[in-house]
Amino acid sequence: VKRVTTHVLQEMKDNNEKISMLTGYDFSMAKIIDGAGIDVILVGDSASNVMAGHETTLPITLDQMIYHAASVVRAVERALVVVDMPFGSYQGNSKEALVTAIRIMKESGGHAVKMEGGQEIIESISRILTAGIPVMGHLGLTPQSIYKFGTYVVRAKQEEEANRLIEDAKALEAAGCFSIVLEKIPAELAERVAKEVNIPIIGIGAGGGVDGQVLVVHDMLGINNDFNPRFLRKYHNLFEEMTNALKSYISDVRSGDFPNKEEQY
Ligand code: KIV
Ligand code: NA
Repeated sequence: VKRVTTHVLQEMKDNNEKISMLTGYDFSMAKIIDGAGIDVILVGDSASNVMAGHETTLPITLDQMIYHAASVVRAVERALVVVDMPFGSYQGNSKEALVTAIRIMKESGGHAVKMEGGQEIIESISRILTAGIPVMGHLGLTPQSIYKFGTYVVRAKQEEEANRLIEDAKALEAAGCFSIVLEKIPAELAERVAKEVNIPIIGIGAGGGVDGQVLVVHDMLGINNDFNPRFLRKYHNLFEEMTNALKSYISDVRSGDFPNKEEQY
């Protein structure tokens, strides 16, 4: 199989082909996602919520991110694997940012890193890029700054914040980022960014006028029953399907139906 690279993603934007991206945190799920033909797997710090049950993405550690990323990399044959830099591992210290990115690349085998923020983290981004590590940006709703914003509502609805977001996107492109995620901003603004910068723009809750889409895989499979934002399309109700399967197993064990004659030695 031909591997997806950052260059392939740029070609896709240039040819008006949409990019598909999902999160992945473990070997078994990543194998299914990659086998289905996804372009990019994001080892998101949403693992903090989805895998570990934390309320925010702040607690997940670099070692934990590397564990998730290495598990995903072992499963993937085709997709580009992008790994989130965790909170506290790059903000305000470009030397530490470089050390973090190098650890992720060396110890997990991932292909690129993602960082939240614009002009305020440009120095860190530039330093990582000098080491030959591809960087994906992330603007709009940036969950690592949740305590600064206070809520998970739509971002950049006002002109001032919208203009700053456009400037940030241009700064990320100029610095050398290969792509940018835009999270939970008005569709019109996201479309404008996708037109004004040349690198691929991947949206989540940012409408259809961008170059690709990303969702948290547990959300779109309906494993997570109690997260229902407007932007989420559920492609399955795995919560219900799994609960039914689990209940059948429990009842078969209790009734003695499992195992039967063919299921024993
Ligand atoms: O961690 C994550 O899942 C993400 C996506 C929502 C873009 O950053
Ligand atoms: Na993230």
